[in-house]
Amino acid sequence: MTRHTPRFIQTHRSDSEEERAAAIAGLQRTPAEASPKYFYDRLGSHLFDAITELPEYYPTRTEAAIFAARGGEMAACVGRGSTFVDLGAGNCAKAARLLPLLDASRYVAVDISADYLQEALRALQREHPALDIVGVGMDFSQSPALPPGVLTPGERAVFFYPGSSIGNFTPSQACAFLAGVRVQAAGGGLLVGVDLVKPVAALEAAYDDALGVTAAFNLNLLRNMNRAIGTDFDPTQWRHLALFDRAQSRIEMHLEARRALIVRWPGGERAFAAGERLHTENSYKYTVESFAALLSKAGFATSRCWTSADNAFAVYWAQA
Ligand code: TRP
Repeated sequence: MTRHTPRFIQTHRSDSEEERAAAIAGLQRTPAEASPKYFYDRLGSHLFDAITELPEYYPTRTEAAIFAARGGEMAACVGRGSTFVDLGAGNCAKAARLLPLLDASRYVAVDISADYLQEALRALQREHPALDIVGVGMDFSQSPALPPGVLTPGERAVFFYPGSSIGNFTPSQACAFLAGVRVQAAGGGLLVGVDLVKPVAALEAAYDDALGVTAAFNLNLLRNMNRAIGTDFDPTQWRHLALFDRAQSRIEMHLEARRALIVRWPGGERAFAAGERLHTENSYKYTVESFAALLSKAGFATSRCWTSADNAFAVYWAQA
């Protein structure tokens, strides 16, 4: 048996001048906003893993139950021997459970948190010594286009986008992103997890847990921005907020200034009034029908949908 070692390609640099300029422009907007990519440094990735174990945060375990119950049916749709492209692979745990079922020939794991991903891939390679593993350290929030050479022409690729991360785009951004996946998946398709609309109390609790882990995750963005762009945010001066906006069908995550304060960075500053917010992320919630419509708008041919027994979460197979 051939023993492989993971190959790694790095395209994302968090210290580039464009990143810094974009982050500062967001801070100067009214209302101020920060890119959710600043959640995912190494500590942020660990905090997110902790979130997935919270009783209030149902998406991860609900999605895992759908994969466990319906994995065989999914494998029949997806087909065997494809290249499995995992968008936002994180600790690679979700893919690790599906890879044996799908009998993938290659595994391409993409994540912005490159150090964390590399560690996870080395562990995965020990479990699957013969699998061809490629790690890509990349920010795919603007486009899912993989660096040249990662996929070879004619290679059948199956994209995997679990965890309802698609909900972190606006519906029109999500449509463009899905269309960008579809062109790369010609002959293959997309397996995507989507969180569904449900009563507000359950949604808000999932994003504001009793232990404060989600608050820590949201606040960690401030530390990470301090390091990446040189701001002087003091996390103790900010409060985590999660609110469901019914009209837009989205949970909004904010950080709210506990008192009037000034955030400074080399070359500039921004004053925040007491109670003023920094918007950090949205998490859109779909219905079974509204997401199916989005997939077809993005150009996918047929789709299959599996939902959890309580209709909390859905997984779709969309043929490219
Ligand atoms: N993609 C995850 C989601 O929308 C991210 C997430 C979970 C998140 N909890 C959070 C983002 C709290 C910001 C704050 O469910």
